[in-house]
Amino acid sequence: MIKKVNHIGIAVNDLEAAAPFYKDVLKLNYEGSEVVESQKVKVAFYTAGETRIELLEPTSPESPIAKFLEKKGEGIHHIAYEVEDVVSKLKELEDEGVRLIDKTPRSGAHGTSIAFIHPKAGNGVLVELCQPGKGE
Ligand code: CO
Repeated sequence: MIKKVNHIGIAVNDLEAAAPFYKDVLKLNYEGSEVVESQKVKVAFYTAGETRIELLEPTSPESPIAKFLEKKGEGIHHIAYEVEDVVSKLKELEDEGVRLIDKTPRSGAHGTSIAFIHPKAGNGVLVELCQPGKGE
């Protein structure tokens, strides 16, 4: 079951250059940043009520975010829906024949387990399933 939108991922060239809009214009609460090795990105977290905004900057040209920026430029990269159990959700989607990028979860920021559904299945939107880590 989908519980809510956990976060929205936005690809940026430079976290520091993007910060003033989120901090000073929108006045969102800055929560910190973290390098996510599995995705080769550095992520800065802002909160808007219950929803996080995650700005993603590539740490390597091999990063999927670097490839996204090259093709499309800065902008919304993915929408992440929160699920209780990402493994069982993936199994359910696979059984329904939904095109997946990840058949098994990988680790995301904040100790989450995440998996991506292919944008071809999501009307052009890359969808992330996100299971919160313990203590979230
Ligand atoms: Co995400």
